[in-house]
Amino acid sequence: MDGLDLNKEILDIAKTRVYSNLYLQNILDITIQKKYDVIISMFAVLNHLKNTQELEKALMNLKNILTDGGKIIIDLHNPQDSGSKTDFYDNMTRTMEWHYDKKSKIEDSKIIFEIDGKKYIDSHTFRIFTIDEVKQCCANVGLVVKKVYENYDSNKHGSSIS
Ligand SMILES: C[S@@+](CC[C@H](N)C(=O)[O-])C[C@H]1O[C@@H](n2cnc3c(N)ncnc32)[C@H](O)[C@@H]1O
Repeated sequence: MDGLDLNKEILDIAKTRVYSNLYLQNILDITIQKKYDVIISMFAVLNHLKNTQELEKALMNLKNILTDGGKIIIDLHNPQDSGSKTDFYDNMTRTMEWHYDKKSKIEDSKIIFEIDGKKYIDSHTFRIFTIDEVKQCCANVGLVVKKVYENYDSNKHGSSIS
């Protein structure tokens, strides 16, 4: 199992936990020569892409390192609403605030983690891709969408940590 991320800090953390080849690469510019039977893109990586052109490019790059008959599993963040929510855990509180702009399909989010009294803030901008956009981009690069889970439910926001 290999890994790829744009961010060196994330890869440095991963290095302490897995014995894999970890590639510091942009999904838009993959130079890996190997082929994989399964590629998994977890936790909204592709939502960091700016538009459908970039999504298509990323999907093409993944297809290029996929074996014939291989599978790509993509996890996308897809709500189309604005709001806020706080979750409480043993030693942590997580407050999320998000604003979705329908016209641009851009979501700006701020997540405040308070762990043992110390605050950590993460802000990010996501492009929310509709299921039709995803299907079109897949079709454009010759990928077939076999299954869409959870009905691509745009009412769900934020998973719980358990
Ligand atoms: C929410 S994290 C998920 C991290 C990891 N995939 C996991 O399963 O724990 C999203 C990751 O996407 C990475 N990312 C964003 N844009 C990227 C790009 N263009 N190419 C590669 N990685 C990217 C970020 O650096 C970040 O680590």
